Amino acid sequence: MSRFWNPDLQNLSPYVPGEQPKLEKLIKLNTNESPYGPSPKALAAIAANTNDSLRLYPDPDAKALKEAIAKHHGLNANQVFVGNGSDEVLAHVFVGLLKHPNKPILFPDITYSFYPVYCQLFGIEHRTIALDDQFAIRVEAYLEHSKQYGGNGGIIFPNPNAPTGRGLPRSQIERLLAQNQNSVVVVDEAYVDYGTESCVPLLHNNPANLLITHTLSKSRALAGLRVGYALGHPDLITGLERVKNSFNSYPLDKLAQVGAIAAMEDQAHLDTMSSKVIATRSQFVKELDVLGFETLPSSANFVFTRHPKYDGARIHQELRDRGIIVRHFKTKRIDQFLRITIGTDEQMDALLSALNELLSV
Ligand SMILES: Cc1ncc(COP(=O)(O)O)c(C=O)c1O
Repeated sequence: MSRFWNPDLQNLSPYVPGEQPKLEKLIKLNTNESPYGPSPKALAAIAANTNDSLRLYPDPDAKALKEAIAKHHGLNANQVFVGNGSDEVLAHVFVGLLKHPNKPILFPDITYSFYPVYCQLFGIEHRTIALDDQFAIRVEAYLEHSKQYGGNGGIIFPNPNAPTGRGLPRSQIERLLAQNQNSVVVVDEAYVDYGTESCVPLLHNNPANLLITHTLSKSRALAGLRVGYALGHPDLITGLERVKNSFNSYPLDKLAQVGAIAAMEDQAHLDTMSSKVIATRSQFVKELDVLGFETLPSSANFVFTRHPKYDGARIHQELRDRGIIVRHFKTKRIDQFLRITIGTDEQMDALLSALNELLSV
């Protein structure tokens, strides 16, 4: 702390990302990265553009990338916003679309822990809406809350939710959109490629109040490249562009733009990798059942699980001692759970034998 800091900084509790240890041989199942590499076409595009042209600034509007994303989703380029990872996109969404005086925004009590950090940083009031006792989002509760308090400043949740992994059917979100016309509903689809119904088809009717965010960090295995995007009505996108152009004109470097274009165009690679993760996930959940774990139904590349007889923090530490890192949150309601990223079959086998060992002592 320094007396030169902006006083607001003193009370800020920044988001804490999962650790990125440098130790080799660790089995790293804590940040929902892909266990498989990105599209070879993305790597080739990055290599082909690693040359003297890097002396020039990249396209500030990332026009070609927006066109590739639009084409992939069957939308127009003016329905696409891109940023340096979906975290940056989300930051601009909070500033540009979710900040309204005297209108708190709503999100689940258990969700992506960056949302409350953005609220604190940008001075946005928020209320949390409890997940039900099966850790599912209840659309009804959002509608009831808004009815009781005369609206809201916006609603945001991941689908599937994180860290629970539970997906919400598109029909439920349609209901929410229909009954929440006076503020924006942001659906964070970071993990959508692992088995949740995407809301992107709803954008074909150009609703005014739906914004969807995606990332290339998970199913496209490009967390290191930092590319995310938002899809929505052109008026929402224009708002995001205003925020971006008041902050950083060049959030995506040239290599990120060309790599992301190639990745967006390689549907076959995405499908193969996602199917592998889904297959490993179903096998892994069966094995967890055998060990007595209680696992929430997951449509993400991670599972959220607890053991009725063993403390979550203890299992987390004991796995760590064996060179396996999973994520544990010291948060009320979920402090007995572990969030485990789906890795390769070999990594999951190593994890299962470690669990077997530590549960049997
Ligand atoms: C729900 C959710 N949204 C967004 C992100 C941000 O992803 P990125 O900034 O890598 O695009 C994450 C990352 O873990 C996430 O879990």
